[in-house]
Amino acid sequence: MSPEKRYTRPAIILHWLIAVLMAVNIGLILLVERFPDDWIRPVIDTHKSIGITVLGLVLLRILWRFGHPPPPMPASYGRLERGGAHAAHMVLYLLMILLPLSGWMHDSAWKDAATHPMQLFGLFEWPRIGWIMDIEPAAKETWHSALGAVHEWAGYVLYAMFALHVGGALKHQFVDGERELQRMI
Ligand code: HEM
Ligand code: HEM
Repeated sequence: MSPEKRYTRPAIILHWLIAVLMAVNIGLILLVERFPDDWIRPVIDTHKSIGITVLGLVLLRILWRFGHPPPPMPASYGRLERGGAHAAHMVLYLLMILLPLSGWMHDSAWKDAATHPMQLFGLFEWPRIGWIMDIEPAAKETWHSALGAVHEWAGYVLYAMFALHVGGALKHQFVDGERELQRMI
């Protein structure tokens, strides 16, 4: 497929890297209770580190996108389909930010955050969000649960959007016979 019909190489690499990291992160957290007891803390810490990495990568991806608009959609896509795809992509970008950000905020509101510094992949200390850590304890507990709920619900919305996104891509590829996946490979 000619380059002007495809996403740019950095956009493609970032798309798949973020997709894989998010899938691993969800896998880790859904399976966390099946790990032996002394693995649970390291698994949750890895979840946090991967999440922060995703936040960094998505910011890079958005900056890159400003200078490199996506290739135009094939003329055969109807107006509704284009609008739907754009809206779904926008929601996916929001989720790529909301998930790690709500996780980081939830973790910063954890009552033991000060005595358990977060390490990024065990390499160096990653800061918590100061103004959240400074909330007084009773109110902080409320924030901790509320932000945990936001994080959990963002996860459910992600599952639905992911199903729509992959379903849409596969429909274009295999039902409509478009070279859809080639745009992102
Ligand atoms: C098996 C999994 C996946 C497949 C097969 C897939 C496939 C694709 C394809 C073919 C496109 C190009 C759409 C177009 O025609 O313009 C695309 C774009 C996109 N994908 Fe995925 N994707 C997957 C996973 C994900 C995940 C997990 C996310 C984020 C959570 C994601 C977010 C996006 C976004 C935001 C775009 C639009 C990019 C832009 O216009 O800047 N994808 N995907
Ligand atoms: C790619 C980004 C992320 C995704 C997709 C993600 C997804 C999830 C999901 C689906 C859950 C399970 C929610 C539930 O059912 O209760 C969860 C839990 C959690 N996440 Fe994340 N998360 C991400 C980033 C982060 C970050 C950056 C942090 C903190 C720095 C974080 C901290 C947590 C914590 C503390 C839990 C609760 C674990 C437990 O006590 O069982 N997450 N995450």
